[in-house]
Amino acid sequence: MQTNIARSLLNLKKNLSNLKKSQKIGLVPTMGCIHNGHLELIKKCKKLKYFTVVSIFVNPAQFNNQKDLKKYPSQEKKDIEILKKNDVDLVFFPKTKQMYPLGYSTYIKEINFSDILCGKYRKNHFSGVLTIVLKLFLIVKPYAAFFGEKDFQQLFLIKKMVKDFNLGVKIIGIPTVRDSNGLALSSRNKLLNARGLEIAKQIYLNIKKIRNLDYKYTKDLELYLKKELKKSGLNNIEYIEIRETNSLKHPKSIIRGKTLRIFIAVHVEGVRLIDNCKLN
Ligand code: PAJ
Repeated sequence: MQTNIARSLLNLKKNLSNLKKSQKIGLVPTMGCIHNGHLELIKKCKKLKYFTVVSIFVNPAQFNNQKDLKKYPSQEKKDIEILKKNDVDLVFFPKTKQMYPLGYSTYIKEINFSDILCGKYRKNHFSGVLTIVLKLFLIVKPYAAFFGEKDFQQLFLIKKMVKDFNLGVKIIGIPTVRDSNGLALSSRNKLLNARGLEIAKQIYLNIKKIRNLDYKYTKDLELYLKKELKKSGLNNIEYIEIRETNSLKHPKSIIRGKTLRIFIAVHVEGVRLIDNCKLN
């Protein structure tokens, strides 16, 4: 099986125009630095026998902090090798100039769920995410697209956009892939040294410890987890919030049977890490 590479819109279209009408396209949007989390999305796409398109684009519109954008890791050669090994059909490297040409001025704005959790701390982040994902959908025209639960709010907002805009793309969510210590895989983990990794693994270890504690009020459990994380060396906590999985509402009390999730964002050695996990 051959893995083709497209570096322009024209080239992408050429590659897709050769497909049989019956061949369904599956899209896996990424920002590169491919790891086993991304590969799980790709494997699912391949398993469903879709023509698998992986896009690699570090989308400037979703970075509110230029420093963060500059230091975002990239390993193009290695990514291509990994994607070839995994029989990806087409890798798309959009160019910033083609995605956001001079004078570009149209962005998606979701008004109910974009300013909570990560959106509260990363202004316009989700506008940038939704804009690039919509553009990729319009360009690639996939039957299905794959996203990780690791970025749960992102997955939630993409599902909402597809519904609100009648995009007709099937959105498939994939559970978070973790390393042997439970740390959620992320391209950003590459920016951590051994000490940072040691601290970062405390995120999930602590979530696991508090998942079944019998607390009545969400605020109390959030505070308890905050204390425990601090004790484990995580001093720079952005947020810890318990929310309902289906509505992202923040309930006052922990009602058993309701599907609640705990959402966390922390900074470790200047690297922003997020995680989330079912509570009960
Ligand atoms: P990126 O962080 O590269 O992630 C690409 C996809 O891989 C996302 O859907 C993300 O949720 C998923 N993913 C990352 N780590 C994962 C893990 N440990 N387990 C399961 N899935 C994981 O998310 C983005 O890029 C961008 O915002 C993007 C959607 C490409 C838009 O620019």
